[in-house]
Formats: sequence, C-alpha cells, structure tokens
Amino acid sequence: MSQDQDKAKIILESGQQAELPLVKGTKGEAGIDIGTLHKQLGLFTYDPGFMSTASCKSAITYIDGENGVLLYRGYPIEQLAKNSSFLEVAYLLMNGELPKDDELAGFVDEINHHTMLHEALRSFFDGFHYDAHPMAMMVGVMGSLSAFYHSELDMNDPEHRRISAMRMLAKVPTIAAACYRHSVGWPFVYPRMDLSYCENFLNMMFSLPSQKFIDKENYIDPVAVKALDVLFILHADHEQNASTSTVRLASSTGANPYACVAAGISALWGPAHGGANEAVLSMLAEIGTVDRIPEFIARAKDKNDPFRLMGFGHRVYKNFDPRATIVREVCHEVLEKYTLDDPMFELAMALEEYALKDEYFIEKKLYPNVDFYSGIIYKALKIPEEMLTVMFVIARTAGWVSHWLEMMAEPTRRIGRPRQIYTGYDRRDYVAPEERQ
Ligand code: CMC
Repeated sequence: MSQDQDKAKIILESGQQAELPLVKGTKGEAGIDIGTLHKQLGLFTYDPGFMSTASCKSAITYIDGENGVLLYRGYPIEQLAKNSSFLEVAYLLMNGELPKDDELAGFVDEINHHTMLHEALRSFFDGFHYDAHPMAMMVGVMGSLSAFYHSELDMNDPEHRRISAMRMLAKVPTIAAACYRHSVGWPFVYPRMDLSYCENFLNMMFSLPSQKFIDKENYIDPVAVKALDVLFILHADHEQNASTSTVRLASSTGANPYACVAAGISALWGPAHGGANEAVLSMLAEIGTVDRIPEFIARAKDKNDPFRLMGFGHRVYKNFDPRATIVREVCHEVLEKYTLDDPMFELAMALEEYALKDEYFIEKKLYPNVDFYSGIIYKALKIPEEMLTVMFVIARTAGWVSHWLEMMAEPTRRIGRPRQIYTGYDRRDYVAPEERQ
C-alpha cells in the first residue's frame, strides 16, 4: 500500500488496484476512506475491536494516547478539572464553546428545572427486587423515559433534540439516587433547585427524614462536592469509547434518544469499560494485603488465568492516562479529609508501584487508568460499591448526549451496519429428524 498527500493506493498481489481518499482532521492521524473499497476490489476490511478503524468524524474530544493528551473541545482536561465545573464542561461538550456568565446561569437553571421525574416513573422502581443491581435499574429506567417523552419528540427539530439532551443530563442523578434508595428501602428524595448539581445528588442519595437541614453548608461537605465535580469532569467524555459508540450505533437507526442512551449504559456496565471501578475495589479486597501482590501480579501475567489487573491498561493511552494523574491527586485530598490511612489506598499505591516496575506491564505499556483510583475516592465519600459504575453513568451522560446531538445535526446520516467474514457452513440441505446422524 502506498500513500501520497491526499490518497492511498492499495495494490493486491493479483495486480488489482484501488485508490482511496485520505480523511484528515484538524489534529491526529489521518484515516483512509474505505467506503468504496468493496466496490473497487470486492473486499471488506477486517478489524475486530476497531483497532484501526475510525467510525465517524467528531469535533468534541481529542485524545493523543502516546503523549497522554485529552482535550474537550480543545481545552486540556487538566485546565478544566482545575478551573471549571461539571455543568460548565457539559455545556462546553454540548455546545462547542465555554459559556458566558449569563449562558451558564441559564443552562444551570434549565437543568434544575428538568431534574424531577414524572410521578408515574416512581412506580417503575417497585418492579425491581430490593437487591437488583443499580446498573440494571439505570438501564431500565433510562430506557423507560422513551415511553414518557415520545409522542411530542420531533427528531428533526434541533430544539426538540436539545431539550431531550437536557432532560437526560438533568434527570440522570435523580434516577441514580433513586436506584440507590430503592436498594436500601429508603423513601426517594425529591431534587432541590437551590443546590448545585453535585450537592443535589449527594442530598438525594443520603438525606434522611430525621436529618436537620440547617443550611446546605452545614450538611453537604464541600470537599465531597468538589471531588465529585472533578470526577464527573474527568469521566464526562472520551471520544468513541465502547458506550459512546453504542449510543451512536443505536442512534444511527433513528431510535428514541432515551433508548439509545440506555444502550450506552448497558455497554458501560462491563468490567472492561465503566464497570472497572467496581472491579478494582473487589480486586483490592481480594488481594487484601501488600504481601499478596506478587501472587496476583503473577496471575495477571498468566495467559491461562482469566484474572487481569483491573484499572490497568487502556486501548488508547500507552504512556499514561492524564485522568489518572488528576484522580490520584484528588484521592490524596479526599483521604486526608476522610480516612487518613485507608489500607486500601496504601494497597493500591503498592500495587501500582509493583506493577510499574514489572517487565510484563512495561513491555505491554499497561499503566493505571482513571478507574484505578476513582473507586477509592467514591468509597471514601461513602458511595456504595455497586453504585460506582452508576457514578460513571451520570458523568458520561454529558458525553453521550453531546455525541448524539452532533450526529443528529449532520446533514446526512447512514445506518451503522458493519459487514462480517462468514465462518459457518457452506450451503447444505435440510435433513428430516429421523434421518439425522
Ligand atoms: N492486566 C493484565 N494484562 C493486561 C491488562 C491487564 N489489566 N490489560 C491488557 N493486558 C494485556 C493483554 O492480556 C494483552 O496481552 P497479549 O498481547 O499478550 O495478548 C495485551 O495486554 C493487550 O491487551 P488487550 O486486551 O488486547 O488491549 P485492549 O486495548 O483490547 O484492552 C482494556 C484495553 C482497557 C480493555 C484492557 O487493558 C483491560 O481489560 N484492562 C482492565 C480493565 C480496565 O481497567 N478497564 C477500564 C478502562 S478505563 C475506563 C474506560 O474508559 O472505560
């Protein structure tokens, strides 16, 4: 294969040739537009796991995996984590620019007004067992919003699409807190419009009827609120990850947006993706003490053992995950406030140190990712373990709806429909049951 400025030429051993245009973005590697490859050569490309495939053009998030760079709409994640708030970042992701003062105030106000759930939706929770996993409830309840906001939704109207996106972002913490309270049998707490996004979430999670509300400063700890806000910023978007790609694929059929985001929540649940933060805590509990680290490192390296070091490795980051650097700092601050010497944090640091010196991890470029420390922070904030992936859902909803808005605004949209390399039987004839061998 050769490549000039604007096109790539593919020459098969048979002599057949195809010329394919290059697609260039504003930053990062170019892609080869293989849309006509099948027409020209009668061949498909084969790329399980999308190791070398760009599935779309997007102007939302840029990642440079080699150099540990993550930009939201051009702004470095480090600057946003330090100076911004989650809702400001959500505005940025959805609209492309940072908001002016009045724009942010209007955005926050509108989010506040969409935080409540339809009263009929509350009865949905009664159908779930008390011990249902909160992620199972998240999938179901987010999907069920499509039944509440269907008839009036005109997907061709940008304003209708914007309101759908705002609703999802506003309601997701309310749904998340309700999932938790259902699991412990507590009454649901209504959202409060006088609290910030993260304060409101903590209030809906933890407030008890007996709790005296003097004022918000005396009840909701600003250290917890700040930590939550930073974690939400870090998890808000990550370009074409598995769950965002799922949202895009489902949306390509023109399906209802709430159902598409429910599909994204399902994809996020797995331990290779958003479920990793919960899996990290289970893994640390299983390891238990520092002296058992070598045993588990050996298991992670053993190809016959399915065990992997959770919170390690990333498809894109091959030197460091910039989010992990920020999260590690937040972890220190939070633990200083809450639990001075959490043995789990000590264990995590020892495990990180051990793995980073190990030849296997060095050679395969496996570094701690954002979820190696996020679970420890959530644990310190008393967020239960089974809620950790739900926390990821709250944050990533900002990314999912931004990608949905971007995709739906494109002038032409095609249904996402990959091809396959068939490995089954050749054509064969039906045999009657009594004649089967
Ligand atoms: N522990 C041990 N070995 C690993 C690990 C790990 N955590 N991750 C990758 N490897 C090995 C893997 O066995 C493979 O070895 P070989 O080349 O000999 O077959 C090699 O490294 C490449 O791994 P891969 O699975 O082909 O890489 P991938 O890009 O397909 O997978 C990953 C990326 C994140 C799914 C994977 O590293 C993993 O399973 N990590 C643990 C789960 C985790 O922490 N996930 C959270 C990701 S960050 C949050 C998010 O964005 O969702």
